[in-house]
Amino acid sequence: MLVQQTFVRARRSLYGRIFLNYRDMSARKWTTCSCTVCRDDAIPSRSFPMSNQLSNHVKPSTTVDQYLNSPGTLCFQLGFPLTASWRAHILYCKASITMSSMQAVLIKDGKGPIENLYIGEADKPTPKADEVLVKIKAFGLNRMDVSQREGRYPPPPGISDILGVEFSGHVVDIGNSVERWTIGDEVFGLAGGGAYAEFIVVPETNVLKKPGHLSWVEAASLPENFLTAYQALILVGEMKEGEDVLVHAGASGVGVAAIQLARLHHAKHVIATASTSDKLNWLRSLPSGATHTANYKTQDFAAEVKKVTEGKGVDVVIDFVGQSHWHKNIDSLAVDGRMTLLAFLSGAEVPSFNLLPILFKRLRIQGSTLRSRSKQYQADLIKKFEENILPHITGSEGAGKVRTYIHKVYPWTEIQEAHREMEANKNSGKIIAEVV
Ligand SMILES: NC(=O)c1ccc[n+]([C@@H]2O[C@H](COP(=O)([O-])OP(=O)(O)OC[C@H]3O[C@@H](n4cnc5c(N)ncnc54)[C@H](OP(=O)(O)O)[C@@H]3O)[C@@H](O)[C@H]2O)c1
Repeated sequence: MLVQQTFVRARRSLYGRIFLNYRDMSARKWTTCSCTVCRDDAIPSRSFPMSNQLSNHVKPSTTVDQYLNSPGTLCFQLGFPLTASWRAHILYCKASITMSSMQAVLIKDGKGPIENLYIGEADKPTPKADEVLVKIKAFGLNRMDVSQREGRYPPPPGISDILGVEFSGHVVDIGNSVERWTIGDEVFGLAGGGAYAEFIVVPETNVLKKPGHLSWVEAASLPENFLTAYQALILVGEMKEGEDVLVHAGASGVGVAAIQLARLHHAKHVIATASTSDKLNWLRSLPSGATHTANYKTQDFAAEVKKVTEGKGVDVVIDFVGQSHWHKNIDSLAVDGRMTLLAFLSGAEVPSFNLLPILFKRLRIQGSTLRSRSKQYQADLIKKFEENILPHITGSEGAGKVRTYIHKVYPWTEIQEAHREMEANKNSGKIIAEVV
């Protein structure tokens, strides 16, 4: 349980009523409330437990619901005569609100290095009318979590500042207007933030039924990577059967999803880049993996693309790297080629660039984001993904055309180690944490 204390100045009145100006507690569920009336802040003189609203001593003049939902002045009626000497000395009221809380991965000082990650207490969220509360079994790590932890990627307005955008678990509470889900359903889903926790609330449209053949870990690995890759490759990049595709950061969570989706949609060649031969060998070894690979550190990937496509170039590039790959990306694109930009891992500024190829090759270059998209956009994307892609996905040992590849699973108590692994670019596939 988390106890939040608020010191509030009491206004004295001749009628023995004490008015507490309380903070906005809207949308927070509290379970018990106690009010201590003090002669001054340091010396509590009398204490009146208010574990239910029927306390004989102190009664709020408003109902619990009003207290919860509308900020303003809460009036407590003292249940005993207020003597003149008491009235003269009451300076402060000290209100303690006990709220439901949960464990979550928090960041000391709000941002910082890996060592600042710790498990602590946070407010347990409450679902609004169209939201579900999910008790989390596992959550996925994403590169953006590292950026957010370092203070370089603030969550969108109104979103939890707890890290984590994907999870799997059980529905444990639903809002009044939720129709699709019932308590106990096994789900996985996408969030704007808040998944590094015991509980999360998300719109009911942001969760999907967990297929029985996927484990909690496998299900938690899907949302962010596959929705991003599906959007970037198929919806934005408009990849079609028989086309050639270049996927950078091929062994990243998003990269390996994009490679498999390109194969699922019958790409002719899928060329992937990565920094080590281990990653490249692994990518070529997957059943729906890369058909060709290039080490961007030791090879000219544009030259490799030309070789594989017999001089034509690729129709779609999925890029996360930006600056260092820009010129070679433009060079790699075929006539009428499309490039989806998802991140700028090497930097976002290209000092000098000749625009001519964009015109002559009729290139289309488009950025894409997922986290900042509207609720409706995400709902539509998730629905399309559920219908078109999810039925093809199995675990890595399954026979699906698309599979989940889990690099490592950590108990969430080892979240620092998990971030260290990601920061060191060691992962081939997904890093997952289990809430244990
Ligand atoms: N815009 C969107 O909607 C969206 C959504 C989700 C993710 N993203 C972005 O997609 C990228 C992949 O995310 P993820 O969570 O799947 O990442 P991840 O699993 O952590 O993998 C990232 C990989 O990128 C490669 N990399 C890192 N720095 C690089 C550099 N300077 N040059 C070239 N390659 C570099 C590394 O592989 P190598 O060893 O091969 O270099 C690294 O393992 C991230 O940048 C993330 O921010 C964007």
